[in-house]
Amino acid sequence: MIAWRTVRLRPFHERDLPLLRAWFDDPELMRFWGMTSTPVVDQRFADDLTGRFSRFDHAGYFAIDLIDGTTIGRVDFERLSTETRSAEVMILIGDRTARGKGYGTDAMVALLRYLFHTRNLHRVSLTVLAWNVRAIRSYEKTGFTVEGRLRDDLFFDGGYHDQIAMSILRHEFDARWSTDESAALDTGGEARVTLG
Ligand SMILES: CC(C)(COP(=O)(O)OP(=O)(O)OC[C@H]1O[C@@H](n2cnc3c(N)ncnc32)[C@H](O)[C@@H]1OP(=O)(O)O)[C@@H](O)C(=O)NCCC(=O)NCCS
Repeated sequence: MIAWRTVRLRPFHERDLPLLRAWFDDPELMRFWGMTSTPVVDQRFADDLTGRFSRFDHAGYFAIDLIDGTTIGRVDFERLSTETRSAEVMILIGDRTARGKGYGTDAMVALLRYLFHTRNLHRVSLTVLAWNVRAIRSYEKTGFTVEGRLRDDLFFDGGYHDQIAMSILRHEFDARWSTDESAALDTGGEARVTLG
């Protein structure tokens, strides 16, 4: 488990299948990820759980829990390279009543602590739809910097959409967050990174 302030990150379990499915089936939510919901068989989610969701190698998929155990979303990394010491990240708070309360920012900080301090990465990047101002604001709070605009990068809902490229380097993350270690104190002074 990885803890930071209001959230806990943990691997997905079989009991999470209905939630994974529900988030994927929510067209408004998938639109934030630049995707159109398409019918998918349940087996695909079961295969994910025993496959890519269980490995935590070049990709990792965490459930985001609140302290009371409520599961509100997921935060992922993909394309982790040990050569360039970099990875890409993505996040969603599936429960819409849980958005705008700081949980997404806390979950991203938790993931970055794991990627920078446990996986020893140097750079973490993401792309976000240019009109997703809430997400951009959350990433800025986390410490991400805008690198540029990818014009007409995605096509969905009958039109092109720009994306904003953002990144954060380890020294930038540490300068912003390393003096705030107390946020992980409730798990023993350091965010736990043991999975399972
Ligand atoms: C993006 C997401 C992960 C952010 O998590 P969150 O918990 O909602 O974010 P936070 O509450 O930590 O921060 C949101 C910030 O945006 C601000 N905000 C919200 N709506 C806004 C708007 N319309 N315009 C500008 N700022 C806005 C909030 O005020 C807050 O900033 P503040 O703390 O300075 O007041 C979450 O909203 C989400 O999952 N959204 C749907 C899926 C999605 O967009 N995923 C990201 C795809 S790249």
